[in-house]
Amino acid sequence: METMKPPMEVLYEKELEALRANDTGAKPPNWLLSPKAVRDFILGTPKPLKLNGESVTISKKFYGDDVMIERSVVALAGNRGLMLVGEPGTAKTMLSELLSAAISGTSTNTIQGTAGTTEDMIKYSWNYAMLLDKGPTYEALVPSPLYTGMKKGIITRFEEITRCPFEVQDVLISILSDKVMNIPELADGILFAKPGFNIIATANIRDKGVNEMSSALKRRFNFETIFPINHVKMEAQIIEAQSRNILQQSGIDIELNQEIIEILATTFLELRTGQTREGYKIDTPQTVMSTAEAVSVYVQSAMTAHFYDDKAISLERLVQNMLGAVAKENHKDINVLKTYFSKVVKERAKDAGLWEAYYNEKKWIR
Ligand SMILES: Nc1ncnc2c1ncn2[C@@H]1O[C@H](COP(=O)(O)OP(=O)(O)O)[C@@H](O)[C@H]1O
Ligand SMILES: [Mg+2]
Repeated sequence: METMKPPMEVLYEKELEALRANDTGAKPPNWLLSPKAVRDFILGTPKPLKLNGESVTISKKFYGDDVMIERSVVALAGNRGLMLVGEPGTAKTMLSELLSAAISGTSTNTIQGTAGTTEDMIKYSWNYAMLLDKGPTYEALVPSPLYTGMKKGIITRFEEITRCPFEVQDVLISILSDKVMNIPELADGILFAKPGFNIIATANIRDKGVNEMSSALKRRFNFETIFPINHVKMEAQIIEAQSRNILQQSGIDIELNQEIIEILATTFLELRTGQTREGYKIDTPQTVMSTAEAVSVYVQSAMTAHFYDDKAISLERLVQNMLGAVAKENHKDINVLKTYFSKVVKERAKDAGLWEAYYNEKKWIR
């Protein structure tokens, strides 16, 4: 079946199959892969793997702290949950999906945290027609993703957990420590978690609230902070790989432009960190200049050029699309971009390469 955004276990079905076929490592109970194979799925392998005589490349999907990935996998094999914390767009969601797909074979058993999340949504609710007809029975119980995770022994993803009210978050305390859920409406109503169950939660540092999370709940999680990318080459690699995927999925077959990707990566990284590669301090916009945002700027620019200009991409389209990404939170951020152009880009325009042409597109920043 074709879908707009296939889950990781579908997108990487072949890779997962090849990893399973070649996995000789010890597996925690109910895991589909060993911790070593889970790590290889996320970080890629140097050599392709054989699957029924075919050779399958295990692609690198996450760039950054490799040891953090190992720690996260090990945390999930233990009896605490995993909490991925970081700025928006640092691949917390992506990582939690990759981990769930590799360990449990599914990444869609998910609770989305919002201010309106209720205890029912976390535990279970009832099919009211059946409840009225037969009273409380297991058939009338509508399981939540957490319930399903415990029952099947798979991972439950909990997105943006700090957006939920505290009393709702605290439902997780007893579940994570005792691995049981009580169902007081049913006689002997109790659900014991099957091995393999665990929780991967994500939390956005900008949402506040991570610090206000109850310490009892904090103790039930291993915290891992994901830091934004700090190298232009790495940022460019991600932009390239992700843009290629997204454009392919949109059915647009075009060449990527390495030079433009490098300019985009440099601009985003410098505006994010407030430091130029020459070592000068610069102002940063209020908006998060995330890698995820850089990917969508590239994709948007490439699509615009493809549909309107019969070109693969141009610096003109890049600057036009960058504007929207920078100005989305505060219009004053436009001035930060303007200053970046009139100081940093102008200086580099004296050198060879595309920077001069980039500087000439400053006219779009207004
Ligand atoms: N370190 C990274 N490695 C690989 N891709 C990354 C990285 N950081 C950001 N990305 C890109 O950003 C996208 C968005 O990340 P997402 O998981 O939605 O972020 P978050 O949940 O942290 O807001 C990813 O799908 C990927 O394209
Ligand atoms: Mg997310």
